[in-house]
Amino acid sequence: MKEQINKIKEQALKDISAVEEIKTLNDVKVKYLGKKGELTSVLRGMGSLLPEERPIIGSLVNEVREEIEQAIKAKEEKFQEMELQEKLEKETIDITLPGTKIKRGSKHPVNRVIEEIEDLFVSMGYDVVSGPELETDEFCFERLNLPKGHPARDMQDSFYITKEYLLRTQTSAVQARTMLANTEKTPIRMICAGKTYRREDDATHSHQFGQVEGLVIDKKERNVSLADLKGTLEIFVKKLIGKNCELRFRPSYFPFTEPSYEVDVSCFKCGGKGCSLCKQTGWIEVLGAGIVHPHVLEMNGYNPELYGGFAFGTGLDRLAMFKYAIPDMRYLYTNDIRFLSQFDRKDEE
Ligand code: DAH
Repeated sequence: MKEQINKIKEQALKDISAVEEIKTLNDVKVKYLGKKGELTSVLRGMGSLLPEERPIIGSLVNEVREEIEQAIKAKEEKFQEMELQEKLEKETIDITLPGTKIKRGSKHPVNRVIEEIEDLFVSMGYDVVSGPELETDEFCFERLNLPKGHPARDMQDSFYITKEYLLRTQTSAVQARTMLANTEKTPIRMICAGKTYRREDDATHSHQFGQVEGLVIDKKERNVSLADLKGTLEIFVKKLIGKNCELRFRPSYFPFTEPSYEVDVSCFKCGGKGCSLCKQTGWIEVLGAGIVHPHVLEMNGYNPELYGGFAFGTGLDRLAMFKYAIPDMRYLYTNDIRFLSQFDRKDEE
């Protein structure tokens, strides 16, 4: 029996060293050590031995089992090491290869303009406020001196959701909200940029566009005047479009201001000589503005005898187009990555 065991051992060790891949190693393991393996069957035959021989054979089987197990383990480790080595060789990284460029998003030109305007006005002591896009007829029109049926409502084709609710046609609605919210009647200096909506859609108009609104109200004795409005808008336009711009105030009509103005800027393309952009006039209309109408003050909780101020509003899309020389308004809304990614480099400026 001893001989048989030793033979098994020798054969097992031979088999193990001959194994060339990990899968076959497992077969060898089963063959010798498994439940139906050769060593186990030797143990089973121990019943026929003399009682005094049993422990001797038993311990020999155990020794041999241990030896085989160790040989298998050593082989296994060798395979693992080889595998690792192979992997390391295969997966070496060529650090001289250029990396894959990560595509970064970029700020939308309209958002850039909004941030620039907000920064500028905050530096002049204004608050940045916001209002709802789904607005009431009351705030969008009535409280701005545009009662129901007023002919000036025709200037703004609107999306009504119900009889009372509409998508705001102008950020001017925020004027009334700001005045009413300021119950302490402290001075107001606010700027509000946001989305506005009108029922129009062609090459130079979009049914959704951006506006920015400004409102300043203070005690009458502080005398917030047209000169302040002019100075403020000059700083605004020069900062945003260019130092060499000139401003022109034309009398106009808005229901919520009296007097009202339309503000033009000298054409930055031709310098005022006349070109296709300014339709040969040398001027481009950019803002609406004026002195806040006494009715508007009164309707929104300010005594017009005691308070006064100015307001202005402008389209953000047009400003972005002028600032970045964008030829077609629709580029701003079609989300073409080739267009939008051009503004990346503006971050470094
Ligand atoms: N809300 C006007 C519009 O959409 C623009 C405007 C004009 C705003 C005069 C003002 C203002 O605050 O005083 O056409």
